[in-house]
Amino acid sequence: MRKPIIAGNWKLHKTVNESRHLIQTLAENLKDVTDAEIVVAPVFTALESAVAAAKGSPIAIAAQNCYPASSGAFTGEVSPTLLKDIGCTGAIVGHSERRQLFGESNAFINAKVQALLAAGLRAIFCIGETLEERESGRMYDILTGQVKEGLAGLTPEDMDKVVVAYEPVWAIGTGKTASDEEAEEAHAFIRGLLQGIFNENVADKTPILYGGSVKPGNVDGLMAQEDIDGVLVGGASLVAEDFIRIARFQRSETVQQ
Ligand code: PGA
Repeated sequence: MRKPIIAGNWKLHKTVNESRHLIQTLAENLKDVTDAEIVVAPVFTALESAVAAAKGSPIAIAAQNCYPASSGAFTGEVSPTLLKDIGCTGAIVGHSERRQLFGESNAFINAKVQALLAAGLRAIFCIGETLEERESGRMYDILTGQVKEGLAGLTPEDMDKVVVAYEPVWAIGTGKTASDEEAEEAHAFIRGLLQGIFNENVADKTPILYGGSVKPGNVDGLMAQEDIDGVLVGGASLVAEDFIRIARFQRSETVQQ
């Protein structure tokens, strides 16, 4: 049974103080949640105090990016080793904003995944098609390329530290969520890819999150899908009340403890 993961991607929002306050509110309101993992990804400057604020709570702190080297002449970059040093448990990599705005390739994202694993951290590895790719019938080819190239060189054991996040680009920040069925179809396809590349055990164990306009009003339907193991939330993760409700999505009988 895959444990649900509810992750918040704060993107470029919130000062150190604002981040600390939001984490304190989440920690207070989610302290009894033991049947789901809660992950929050603030900006780099707020990470260290976020780790301190989350201490003793069920909230893990992840970064939104990293550079694939542990140290060296890479002006302006932050390595997985340094993230680990301040108590982060992982990082988001391959987000569509980084692919689109910063030109990140599957190969570069693969290097980041490998660097995170080498540091003992978890990679929240994002993939997803654009509207144009979906409408021109290339969605499955795009997802296949992103998964094969993004996870190239990984062993089945490495996959213990990988969470896949399917985020259709057309649903991110647009208020347009994929329907429960569209999301489930993509997730089942991705799970099939993992089976082909690795094995059935990896396909069974790897959490696949859905992201793209997840809100309190649509989380229950998404989480009820067989292959949706959690959500990666942008906008709604900045509002305490919304993120708390998302983390308290309606459990089906089989996940209730
Ligand atoms: P959104 O963002 O929930 O605001 O659509 C999701 C994401 O980009 O991870």
